[in-house]
Amino acid sequence: MSEANAEAKIIESGSPPAVAVFQLLTGKWVSQAIYAAAELGVADYVGERERTVDELAREVNADPDSLYRLLRGLTSVGIFVEGEGRRFRNNAYSETLRRNEPGSIRGFARLMGVDISWRAWGDIVHSVRTGQSAFEHVAGETAFEYISTRSFEAEVVNEAMTSLSELAAQAVVDAYDFSGARTIVDVGGGHGLLLSAILKANPDAKGVLFELPHAIEGARQLLADTGILQRTEVVAGDGLESVVPGGDVYILKHIIHDWDDERSIRFIRNAAAALPSGGKLLLIEAVLTPPNVPHFAKLLDLEMLVMSQGGRERTLEDYERLYAAAGLKISNVYPTKAVQSIIEGVKP
Ligand SMILES: C[S@@+](CC[C@H](N)C(=O)[O-])C[C@H]1O[C@@H](n2cnc3c(N)ncnc32)[C@H](O)[C@@H]1O
Repeated sequence: MSEANAEAKIIESGSPPAVAVFQLLTGKWVSQAIYAAAELGVADYVGERERTVDELAREVNADPDSLYRLLRGLTSVGIFVEGEGRRFRNNAYSETLRRNEPGSIRGFARLMGVDISWRAWGDIVHSVRTGQSAFEHVAGETAFEYISTRSFEAEVVNEAMTSLSELAAQAVVDAYDFSGARTIVDVGGGHGLLLSAILKANPDAKGVLFELPHAIEGARQLLADTGILQRTEVVAGDGLESVVPGGDVYILKHIIHDWDDERSIRFIRNAAAALPSGGKLLLIEAVLTPPNVPHFAKLLDLEMLVMSQGGRERTLEDYERLYAAAGLKISNVYPTKAVQSIIEGVKP
């Protein structure tokens, strides 16, 4: 896509530039309105029927008129459908805010609006001026430290990661041939959704979920629910120190985008050290496109700037450099239907 294509996105409505930018600015209203509906669980209560706003307000513990205004606002961007007499029903878009549904994005909606995320983004100018994490500036500790002592926020983050993993997991299984793998280690694998999808599609493989202690309990639960706990070992550890040995394929999905180059190299080096000769390392991350070619990760990169300590999205050249620093070479890059690609390295 050319520069003209990138610009086309903003002018496609035919609006004058100031109106187009005004509409982008009000994205904040849309984002918070979606968050509020997700946090209150409105789409779950609407379910398969058309419900009056008074019924819904009682169920979600809200002020009826304000809930009406929230849902009416959301209909104007295509989320929910308003019927006669202040009734609402779900459509394909509001359905994505239902919990525990395939394709649910509710967890991510909650993460976008959770208080601390909102306050950190409010401080983005600090990050741009200093290169430092706005989150840490606002919270006084890193995001991982923050959630390690707060169960509500930890639950929001883990639900968000699971909802995003759901979107990506099938895309990864479709894009990569895991059939030769014996033991697949997912380093920082969250609650194990990706590992579950891979093991389900590859019944002869075993899995190891390697995670920080806060994620372990939730992981056991999800692995049990998806029926692969018997084939999976759950190991608590710190991938910046060392990575559990024994795998022939190591996955780092959405891990190094949380970290600066130095710590990313430590993750890659530790995984590489655990690999046998011929073993494979799979970084599953977005690969940034050339200048002016739009890519979701160019905005996700700002989330990393604000929320993490030196985390960033990277170009293919960046991944080549990180692999080289860990003594590996990229052997293949497999695009997926999701935003991530699978960047494969083989241990010599
Ligand atoms: C952005 S999430 C990605 C989770 C999962 N891989 C996915 O793609 O959905 C980053 C994960 O890295 C884990 N993590 C962070 N630091 C870690 C460390 N030092 N060792 C192991 N895991 C770590 C976090 O607990 C979190 O689950």
